[in-house]
Amino acid sequence: MLIKIPRGWERPEREATDESHFLQRRRLVKSLAAGPVLLASAATFLTACEEEAKAEPDPTADLYPVKQNLRYRLDRPLTDEAEATKYNNFYEFGSHKQIAKRAQAMKIRPWQVRIDGMVEQEQLLDIDDLLRRMPLEERLYRHRCVEAWSMDVPWSGFPMKALVDLARPLSSARYVVMETATDEETMPGLAQSWYPWPYIDGLTIEEATNELAFLVTGAYGKPVPKQMGAPLRLAVPWKYGFKSIKSIVRFTFTDKRPLNFWEAVQGAEYGFWANVNPEVSHPRWSQASERLLGSGERVPTRLYNGYGEFVAHLYKDLAGEKLFM
Ligand code: MTE
Repeated sequence: MLIKIPRGWERPEREATDESHFLQRRRLVKSLAAGPVLLASAATFLTACEEEAKAEPDPTADLYPVKQNLRYRLDRPLTDEAEATKYNNFYEFGSHKQIAKRAQAMKIRPWQVRIDGMVEQEQLLDIDDLLRRMPLEERLYRHRCVEAWSMDVPWSGFPMKALVDLARPLSSARYVVMETATDEETMPGLAQSWYPWPYIDGLTIEEATNELAFLVTGAYGKPVPKQMGAPLRLAVPWKYGFKSIKSIVRFTFTDKRPLNFWEAVQGAEYGFWANVNPEVSHPRWSQASERLLGSGERVPTRLYNGYGEFVAHLYKDLAGEKLFM
């Protein structure tokens, strides 16, 4: 007997848009676009549809959904897509959580990714070529923000190790530093000149090639939405969320430990390692528990966010370092 077990993010058929409604909606959009709109309710409808119509089609949409890698699973339910995509940290678009709408203005094609620094040869990669070369898979990961909320997301993407292999770093390189795009036209947050733009963050080469380090290109079975860091973002689930840098345009290999964005803003509160540890409080709040996005339930936080078996060995000789801030 064939039993179909729906994946956490799969929507039941009854929730999908009925085809006749879909076609009706398309016809309405066309007719509204053709002439002046008199009805206020129709005008409201047009605004929402217009946004959808304006969005350029993602040239990699055909790649999703990708096959799930069952090695990375969760022991708690996935966060609802609607919740995870409307409560976001992306300071380039503002220092609050409701940036999803604004982020839609970000242009994500053409998009190039530079690989430079201590590598055999610098490279400039087109995102669409890169995605088609990489081994895409889906992983269910926890995400624990330093602000003590968390979510559980089906990310699609590829192991960061594949990118490090492609980059061919010199043996003297010890870190990889990532940088977010800066576009003053679409990112109003960049005008807040007290922040040290561009947003950067880094990992040691050992961390970047650890099997958990994942470069995200999709979420919930589709290309990753702009507010979550399209077209390429990091997921390092054993670390606080600020390490998971969004909308990456550059990977620089270096022998110098970088000062990440939040460390540069407030070094007494945020550090390079930022590994999750419920026993090490943030200077202003406890890290012992976390609030699940969506249900609002509070649950205990786990050392390395529950991923100790994968990563604890990376830190065994670093006792003198501030590993948990
Ligand atoms: N990357 C950039 N470029 N800018 C940011 O403000 N915020 C970080 C991280 N990556 C941030 C970023 C923080 S603090 C968190 S918790 C996560 O993104 C939030 O990811 P989410 O919006 O997908 O939940």
